[in-house]
Amino acid sequence: MQQRKPAISVRHLTCGYDDTVILDDISFDVMEGEIFIILGGSGCGKSTLLKNMIGLYQPMSGQVLFGEDDLAAASSAERIALTRRFGVMYQMGALFGSMSLLQNVMLPLEEFTSLPAEAVDLIAKSKLAMVNLEHSLYKMPAALSGGMKKRAAIARAMALDPKILFLDEPGAGLDPISSAELDELILNLSRTLGITFVIVTHELESIYAIADRVIMLDRNVKRIVAEGDPKVLRDTSDNPFVRQFFHRLPSVPGEGAAQTTTEQG
Ligand SMILES: Nc1ncnc2c1ncn2[C@@H]1O[C@H](COP(=O)(O)OP(=O)(O)O)[C@@H](O)[C@H]1O
Ligand SMILES: [Mg+2]
Repeated sequence: MQQRKPAISVRHLTCGYDDTVILDDISFDVMEGEIFIILGGSGCGKSTLLKNMIGLYQPMSGQVLFGEDDLAAASSAERIALTRRFGVMYQMGALFGSMSLLQNVMLPLEEFTSLPAEAVDLIAKSKLAMVNLEHSLYKMPAALSGGMKKRAAIARAMALDPKILFLDEPGAGLDPISSAELDELILNLSRTLGITFVIVTHELESIYAIADRVIMLDRNVKRIVAEGDPKVLRDTSDNPFVRQFFHRLPSVPGEGAAQTTTEQG
């Protein structure tokens, strides 16, 4: 465990939109095999950070390294090879509604590999079995519960055997039981396959259940305001913003008052 290497190194990353800086000069490492969680109030830039990490947006400055490889500096061929190392489930991560679950998971395999049809079929079925959807292969997304949709989207993100999975608010909109099942699945995939997870969430139960390490972003300072084991942060942080979040004080991050508290601290 101690000899883990960084799977991703974010170095002096500044990112945003046009002239608007959302995150200013942030640096952190995500270690191989860990479940790494990005926290912060709504609008602080969690999704923006994720999209810069996966190369969907180009950083204003700084680097996102996967091992030695800089995604932003890669040629288009290198980029394709690099992006195949990770799978993504976006915040609104919808499945294609006109396709069965099996077809949804087959899609990346058909697009990015030249495997024979039988292999594509077998692999897609095995991914759906990994998320406990082996009995729903031919169902259409509309026929599924929210939790099943999320699990199917994770199966699709795993189609090409990624080493890293990025999940943007996977538990959003789920009931507590489905959300706990999803946490269990993430833990299981992490332990059995050694997949590294980068997850955006603000659900405390989830954070305590699965996170190895968290970073907390703050919209005012545009930086990381806390980093580490969530239980340690809960018990030891002096930062009012962090305390407010972990102790569920009345004004939760993202609801205005939290931001003024940060300035007082
Ligand atoms: N495509 C975009 N163009 C311009 N501004 C954006 C875009 N996407 C998000 N933003 C702005 O960037 C800030 C951070 O957004 P986002 O990363 O989605 O926050 P979070 O995921 O933490 O809720 C917000 O102020 C949001 O309005
Ligand atoms: Mg978001």
